[in-house]
Amino acid sequence: MTSRIIIGLMSGTSVDGIDAAIVEIRGRAPRLSARLLHHHQANWPLRLRRRLLAAMGNAPSSAAEICELNFLTARSFAAAVQSALQHARIAPHRVTAVASHGQTICHLPPQPGRTTGSTLQLGDVSVIAALTGIQTIGNFRSADMAVGGHGAPLVPWTDAILLRDTRKTRAIQNIGGIANVTYLPPGRGFSDVLAFDTGPGNMAIDALISIATGGSRHCDTNGRIARHGRVDERLFTRLKAHRYFSQQPPKSTGREVFGAAFVENLLTRAAGKRICDLAATLTALTAWSIADAYHRFLPRVPDEVIIGGGGLHNPELMRYLTADLAKLGCRTLIPMDQLKIANKAREAMAFALLGAAALDGVPANLPQVTGAAQLMLLGVVAQGTG
Ligand SMILES: Nc1ncnc2c1ncn2[C@@H]1O[C@H](COP(=O)(O)OP(=O)(O)O)[C@@H](O)[C@H]1O
Ligand SMILES: [Mg+2]
Repeated sequence: MTSRIIIGLMSGTSVDGIDAAIVEIRGRAPRLSARLLHHHQANWPLRLRRRLLAAMGNAPSSAAEICELNFLTARSFAAAVQSALQHARIAPHRVTAVASHGQTICHLPPQPGRTTGSTLQLGDVSVIAALTGIQTIGNFRSADMAVGGHGAPLVPWTDAILLRDTRKTRAIQNIGGIANVTYLPPGRGFSDVLAFDTGPGNMAIDALISIATGGSRHCDTNGRIARHGRVDERLFTRLKAHRYFSQQPPKSTGREVFGAAFVENLLTRAAGKRICDLAATLTALTAWSIADAYHRFLPRVPDEVIIGGGGLHNPELMRYLTADLAKLGCRTLIPMDQLKIANKAREAMAFALLGAAALDGVPANLPQVTGAAQLMLLGVVAQGTG
């Protein structure tokens, strides 16, 4: 069987780091198997991270700023590829392709009153290809959005390949900046797979902590702040009424809905309340929104929930989620690593597989998931020098 090395690159809405997954892929899409050869997490240069977060905020950014950020992020992505290869002692000429998600700085899904959805991931693919010498695939979301889709989530196609069980109903719950679920009923293939963003993952909690500490902390490390707080029931009830939660899938969301503006709005209405109580309330809201989405939108309660993403490291969030899922009758929560898929590398690995789909000419969007009018080939390819 043919084998290719593809490097998946991912930086999520949290902008917490660049994940590079060097993946050995066997077979041709969609019959693929994948083995992680090496995972490397590169840090964003501090100033660049700040500029990216500012560009995502509500204050206007100039075209010059976005233009420069597009190239600077590409340079950081290329450097991440080079470091990953050095650490893994793999020569660049052995690599078939880099598959880069890019850094989302704006995601505007289709919605009533908006004529067309749009999305922008920075990190120009030609720059990555030129600097690494490796052909680079990127812009995975645009084609799906061009035909009415949300361009998200895209990882479910790879979940169906790597994580589907023939007997058990599984939910794959990722808790990144945004939280999203992939529903995998027993069986094979893609036709009955469902997936959507359930709402905020760590994003709302991160924004609260960052605002409350004047930017000196980025997250509620190990849930220590929320642990000392109590859920504010009145506020909790109000937050649960947010329209995103009752919106029917296909749906996707981002920083525009659950980022700093959401938390600033909360803070003006919750003046005088303790930060630990607000942290507890947002942590409870995040967990509730996941379980509530299962209850509302999944055809049946999953036999097991596989949890991935940075939220797995927040014990308070996991405590609330365990309790909320138990109320639905779901008592089996499995950390991603237990399925032999390295949690930290999972999304980057998924993009390596999506890169293989692009090279093989196989559509990888799931129209029932994204809402697109049809199957689409995803991605654009920039030539390497090799
Ligand atoms: N020890 C921890 N305690 C609390 N939160 C954590 C911890 N480790 C990671 N996180 C959260 O996970 C987030 C990163 O998760 P990740 O899955 O990489 O998200 P994204 O896909 O948006 O980059 C961090 O911003 C932070 O909120
Ligand atoms: Mg991340």
